[in-house]
Amino acid sequence: MKEKDSFFKVLGIDGKDKKTLQLIAEDLNISLKTLNYYNLNSILPPDNELEKMATYFKINRYQIMIGMGIYNQELKELLSQQAAKIAQGLSHIKTRPTINHEQVFTTSLGQLFEGDCLSLMPTIESGSVDLVFADPPFNLDKLYPSNMDDNIASSEYIRWTEQWLSECIRILKPGGSLFLWNIPKWNTYFSEFLNHRLNFRHWIATDIKYSLPISSRLYPSHYGLLYYIKQEKASVFKPDRLKMETCQHCYRELRDYGGYKDKMNPSGINMPDVWYDIPPVRHSKHKKRKDANELSIKLLDRIIEMATVEGDIVFDPFGGSGTTYLVAELKRRKWIGIELGPTEVIVDRLKNKAEEEDHLNKYRENYNQLFPEKIKKERIKRGIWTDDSFKPEMKDHQISLGLFIGNKSLLSQTK
Ligand SMILES: C[S@@+](CC[C@H](N)C(=O)[O-])C[C@H]1O[C@@H](n2cnc3c(N)ncnc32)[C@H](O)[C@@H]1O
Repeated sequence: MKEKDSFFKVLGIDGKDKKTLQLIAEDLNISLKTLNYYNLNSILPPDNELEKMATYFKINRYQIMIGMGIYNQELKELLSQQAAKIAQGLSHIKTRPTINHEQVFTTSLGQLFEGDCLSLMPTIESGSVDLVFADPPFNLDKLYPSNMDDNIASSEYIRWTEQWLSECIRILKPGGSLFLWNIPKWNTYFSEFLNHRLNFRHWIATDIKYSLPISSRLYPSHYGLLYYIKQEKASVFKPDRLKMETCQHCYRELRDYGGYKDKMNPSGINMPDVWYDIPPVRHSKHKKRKDANELSIKLLDRIIEMATVEGDIVFDPFGGSGTTYLVAELKRRKWIGIELGPTEVIVDRLKNKAEEEDHLNKYRENYNQLFPEKIKKERIKRGIWTDDSFKPEMKDHQISLGLFIGNKSLLSQTK
């Protein structure tokens, strides 16, 4: 992985020696600012500059790339041809994790631990979990109740993530699903890692605004939900279907669904890979932990429904306020959970799970039917088509009426 300062290190330059650095910049005819930019951001210089540097420092360009941890397909293939030779020079040290977790709560379905997920995971049997959902800290310098350091070097954050992801992959059953929630920047690294270990299904963009607009950037408006499965085929894949979006006042559709009204599935619209309907949990009335991030139960409901059936085992290594465990519990899935910081909030939430059940059921009323009952009634009242308009008996009726439904012309409504 990319290491900060690795560019100067591999060239044998002391970044603090400004004088020498300036001379090198002049000799190479590359500005000092550009060299510093490559070094600080671990950016590989373009080929023309790379060649100049290789000649100047008398090292080959592959050494620069390997030293910086940047591998293109060509280099990967060259290295794989030399695998045996390279491996001889490497020793693999495996350290035993120190035990740093304890069980704090159980239900008939789940077990909650307090401590470090990297300590708990080695105790979980290989191939035993049906679904992993992970919403780790994003290394954005947030303050969590656990007081963990959320501002570590990028390379350290990536290494740590790869460590716990490897364990998640080990404990996942063949056919099991892994969902990773993070900001797009980090997901670009983690999808590269996961692509070599699991089977990519989707990068789901979830439209939630999570920071203030920044003047020199686009407005960050989505989280990435990476979705992978272990091996070829998912054991469970039954995404909910969505209702058609309609106007609250006139009950007409809000989007153009391609004009194929008669082809629309009465069970609803296929789940897309862009989700606009996941609410942020901002309001203190709903929020379980005051300052920390918390996901909506609607998100976990959708994921758990999509990838598991009752009785399956769900694992989430980053408990937070316990959203995953609560939804798993309400949906009769078994679950294993852990949180580094205080777990009282999670325990309270699980003890009072009935409080959130209604809320969850409300969300579910809108799934798997094109028009929920109330909307259907309103549309019929206004002479607007519904899925019933295209039922075979209705179609015959339309033909005999010259494409008329009730007292309204279907053609006039299909513009
Ligand atoms: C983004 S929050 C998760 C929020 C959660 N999805 C929810 O809806 O409430 C990440 C959590 O991971 C916890 N955490 C960080 N490192 C951990 C570790 N090594 N083991 C277990 N939990 C950890 C943090 O304390 C924080 O509460």
